[in-house]
Amino acid sequence: MNYNLTSPMSGSLDKIKAPVAEELKVFEELFRRSMKSQAPLLDLVLRFILKRKGKQIRPLFVFLTAKSTGQITPATHRAATLIELLHTATLVHDDVVDDANERRGFFSVNALWKNKIAVLSGDYLLARGLLLSVEHGDYDLLKIVSEATREMSEGELLQMEKARRLDISEEVYFEIIRKKTASLIASCCACGARSSGASEEIVSRMKRFGELVGLAFQIKDDLFDYQKTNLTGKPTGIDIRERKMTLPLIYVLNQCNAAEKRLIINTVKNDHDNLARVEQLVKMVIRYGGLDYAKKRMLELREEALGMLDELPDSDAVVALRNLVIFTTDREN
Ligand code: IPE
Ligand code: IPE
Ligand code: MG
Ligand code: MG
Repeated sequence: MNYNLTSPMSGSLDKIKAPVAEELKVFEELFRRSMKSQAPLLDLVLRFILKRKGKQIRPLFVFLTAKSTGQITPATHRAATLIELLHTATLVHDDVVDDANERRGFFSVNALWKNKIAVLSGDYLLARGLLLSVEHGDYDLLKIVSEATREMSEGELLQMEKARRLDISEEVYFEIIRKKTASLIASCCACGARSSGASEEIVSRMKRFGELVGLAFQIKDDLFDYQKTNLTGKPTGIDIRERKMTLPLIYVLNQCNAAEKRLIINTVKNDHDNLARVEQLVKMVIRYGGLDYAKKRMLELREEALGMLDELPDSDAVVALRNLVIFTTDREN
């Protein structure tokens, strides 16, 4: 297990945070306050989760978008908190669904307390996020985030269906990652813009921007899974083990001959627990340029996303937002 999460990129993330450093401090406090419960067992789990915080790029997207399109308001803070709470809940649930025992360089909640407690703790986090918005009447923001939540569930279930049938196409892959990951990052940017007082047009533009970044972000995450060692603090090689076929593999399936295709499907279907067979498959993905292809698609999305920022007035927030997009695809954790 990798206990050292210090990445060479973490320095650059600090720089990206600079224009909203003060706001992030206030956010941190609000987030902490929401991660508490009177129920002792739940409180223990919440304290455990708080000790290993993630990169917090979603709140960063909320704040930087708000500052790029208008002014950061108290509603911006609540949106950032709601989204990070929802994201945390999703990860706790995701590790149950994926049967993953590691997260952020340590044991996952389900590994330590079993699935039942993980599911209920995730629900609690979501409820706390929703309450924060409801109590302040942030219904427009709540609508944006609720739609993303619906899409995330749909995306996860579509992914499960495809893992069962092993008939995923590139088009469906993009639909899955748009729903399960890009929708939440899109909602960060939409909420950031909306809470800053931006026009409807800007809000939907920023939503599309976030969606493009989110797609690139998930392709990067799927590439990590093919790396033997990385700094993510998550297990690797888990996707094939879970019969999850991602872009590098889907591309190769479309390139190779019928016999090789059968071999790949057969490995994913019957030998996904056989390390030697999985390793053979990974080598094939590399040989056929699956990783290069996925990288290329990721960089195309990044370019499109960056292009969408051109119309915003120049500011240190926009520069940081650009760098955050680049971090998303260059990151090592
Ligand atoms: C992980 O997201 C889940 C995906 C959408 C791939 P992050 O990589 O942002 O997770 P943390 O919060 O930094 O741990
Ligand atoms: C991440 O799914 C997207 C979610 C909605 C949680 P993954 O299963 O690909 O994410 P990691 O790699 O476990 O973080
Ligand atoms: Mg998953
Ligand atoms: Mg997972």
